[in-house]
Amino acid sequence: MGIRITPSILNADLADLRREIARIPSSDLIHLDVMDNRFVPNLTFGLPMVECIRQGTQRPLDIHLMIAEVDRWAPGYAEAGAESVTFHVEASDAPVRLARELRRLGARASMALRPATPIEPYADLLPELDMVLLMTVEPGFGGQSFLDVMLPKIRRTRALLDAHGGDIWLQVDGGVSEETIDRCVHAGADTFVAGSAVFRADDPDAMVRALKAQAEAARTK
Ligand code: DX5
Ligand code: ZN
Repeated sequence: MGIRITPSILNADLADLRREIARIPSSDLIHLDVMDNRFVPNLTFGLPMVECIRQGTQRPLDIHLMIAEVDRWAPGYAEAGAESVTFHVEASDAPVRLARELRRLGARASMALRPATPIEPYADLLPELDMVLLMTVEPGFGGQSFLDVMLPKIRRTRALLDAHGGDIWLQVDGGVSEETIDRCVHAGADTFVAGSAVFRADDPDAMVRALKAQAEAARTK
């Protein structure tokens, strides 16, 4: 099981993303938070901006769609060349159809759950997925405190993924930092979004490397 760090650029300089992405060469993916002010009470950017980012970098893009009517919009991000496209199951009418469409278009298909959404009703969907994203804050804003009450859900999801047996990544998003990453690793996460922890650090790339080293060390403890 590998460890992956995927910095969220939500708290970076959005007016100069080319430079911000260039500041984190050690990251495994680049996490882009798309928000529509409907699914979450915040607005960021959409497909045209992701298409521009795609043209400006070869780095793998990890798109986190926090948008309503996601079945309609998500395939466009796969068509734009994103390596991973995450939809919220709460916003999807047909998650199996959507996951299959994303894979058909060449992206990894990923399903996200808000803090209050249980994983168990979706256990049978795992064969359709390449990643499960568990929110560890209420989605919408960077810089919030990690919700420790999510740790049991991370553990239960890890057990379901192990029982399934495939190579499905388990991503946690929200409040991940040097203070909280060990708990996430011990609960079974392997893919870590870190926004403010990385972009508020003096040296963002050094923080990416530090978080990765810390997570790898925590795995063996
Ligand atoms: C929140 C976003 C996160 C956010 C993480 O809704 O999905 O990706 O940017 O930021 P931090 O790491 O600061 O909680
Ligand atoms: Zn996110």
